[in-house]
Amino acid sequence: MCGIVGYVGPRPAADILLDGLRRLEYRGYDSAGLAIINGTGVQVQKAAGKLSVLTELIGNRKPKGTTGIGHTRWATHGAPNTSNAHPHTDGSGRIALIHNGIIENAGALKTVLLKRGHEFTSETDTEVLAHLVGEYYSGSLEQAVASALHDVDGAYGIAVVSADEPDVVVAARKGSPLLVGVGEGEWFVASDAAAILEHTRSVVYLDDGEMAVLSRDGYRIRNLAEDEVDKPVNQIDWDLATIERDGYEHFMLKEIFEQPESIADTMRGHLLDDEGSSRLHGLNLSDEELCQFERIVITACGTSWHAALIGEYLLEDLARMPTEVEYASEFRYRNPVIDDRTLVIAISQSGETADTLAAIKEAKSRGARTIGLVNVVGSTIAREVDGGLYLRAGPEIGVASTKAFTSQVTALALVALRLARLRGMSLEAGQAFIADLRALPRLVRVVLDRAEELEALADFFTGSTNALYLGRGVNFPVALEGALKMKEISYIHAEGYPAAEMKHGPIALIDENMPVVFIAPRDAVHSKIVSNIEEVKARGGRVIALISDGDDEIAKLADASFTIPMTNSALTPILTSVPLQLFAYYVAVRRECNVDQPRNLAKSVTVE
Ligand code: F6R
Repeated sequence: MCGIVGYVGPRPAADILLDGLRRLEYRGYDSAGLAIINGTGVQVQKAAGKLSVLTELIGNRKPKGTTGIGHTRWATHGAPNTSNAHPHTDGSGRIALIHNGIIENAGALKTVLLKRGHEFTSETDTEVLAHLVGEYYSGSLEQAVASALHDVDGAYGIAVVSADEPDVVVAARKGSPLLVGVGEGEWFVASDAAAILEHTRSVVYLDDGEMAVLSRDGYRIRNLAEDEVDKPVNQIDWDLATIERDGYEHFMLKEIFEQPESIADTMRGHLLDDEGSSRLHGLNLSDEELCQFERIVITACGTSWHAALIGEYLLEDLARMPTEVEYASEFRYRNPVIDDRTLVIAISQSGETADTLAAIKEAKSRGARTIGLVNVVGSTIAREVDGGLYLRAGPEIGVASTKAFTSQVTALALVALRLARLRGMSLEAGQAFIADLRALPRLVRVVLDRAEELEALADFFTGSTNALYLGRGVNFPVALEGALKMKEISYIHAEGYPAAEMKHGPIALIDENMPVVFIAPRDAVHSKIVSNIEEVKARGGRVIALISDGDDEIAKLADASFTIPMTNSALTPILTSVPLQLFAYYVAVRRECNVDQPRNLAKSVTVE
């Protein structure tokens, strides 16, 4: 989604800002811009489209100043064109502002400002905020920003500069992530550490209601009530090489191939072989406290919601724990039944998804204990929950989530194992489950080593515009996830269904033009799914099946198949989702789609 980067220091700001924005491209955006204090005023350059359009526009007219702000915008108010792109200036043209989030009362504020003679050149809420800051300006940018923010409802991460204070960047956050980068004699502000990692690994995460004032002499953090706030400086422990493509054609492919390591990293240090259980100190819950919960509610969005559905299966099957899964966006608006005997688990790769964050706040306000399974360290959800587990999958740059998904499922298996051992699972069963978990990275490698077979299978989708993905039991969510991956990156319409539901409607769609992907490893519902495959074949449908090694029965029935190694049936989603990721990838590449940045999608969805 939108990206922010700002700089104050001795070096030319334009290069630093453009490089920073490049690092944020993966988040998805549709326009970009810079504002640099150039000695006489604020020089704003912006353009609709990709960063390359902006750099072409700038050409060799790069502004010379050493203080500036840069932004990538993902449209929410107004079309993705140049006039709506950020930065926006105030009425005087001497203040420039960039903004992530949504100002909910922008309409009312604009009416007041129009009456006072302000003229607007864009359709954005951000321009209204820039004018409001200008309206309050009387010699102190810090004060003007604070006063303006008192009038604002909604979510924001902002960075502001003024030609009258050429060495100052003011930043503030409420509901949209922002951090300060602490360099040597230079300071940064960014919505994502990736933007500034090239220059510093020392960062201060802002919390809601806080402002940062960066100047040539250092930085200060304060809140809107003017109290100075003392915040720790955190060290980022991943480096730029981790977010480079490392020889792969796309980030998505690199991330798919990283899964043996990322799954192992998620488990690292958490498995207690002797006790047949998992060590999860980060949950901040004693065994006694864990035993007191009567039910679990898991909340998430998109791919993370699919992981949650697998978690529901694991928690009920292994731990016999009543579990429900909620779309975060629905949960918060429907008066959910939650109390202090409910454990609410939020799952999020980015840790910034607005709906998931709001669901957590809702759950907390109703007395629930909350835990987060989150990938991005220091992210808002990770800091909002009472405890949790970092996924440790490493930075995920491709917009379509892959390695975060398998790490989420792995983390859920760790939580399920701990609860299961507290609720009656035997030591031997716990130890056997741990052995199955430990084998997963090697088995995923076996699947990845046969990626070429999946590349060849991509032919199967040539000419198709629709597809069905069918699975049962714990592999029903994998059908949903496989279909989501396919539609996100290849733009082929794909739907996931529980296989037995097919006869209640979707079967009407089956013909020779509708490929049907069955996720059918050998498990308790194997014979049922064989019947479902026969139903499709009887109607002239074309079937690709994901099956267990040695399953000749389905191999003979299907038009094409791909085998996965045997594992504990509760853990098959990890092995069945990987080939579906690769399959979607190869189909999308064949269709010449922008795999890492699919149209209209954003990596981190920080608006409702
Ligand atoms: C799909 C995808 C999205 C995210 C969803 C939630 O490939 O990436 O569906 O899963 O936007 O994002 P997080 O996990 O960051 O909360």
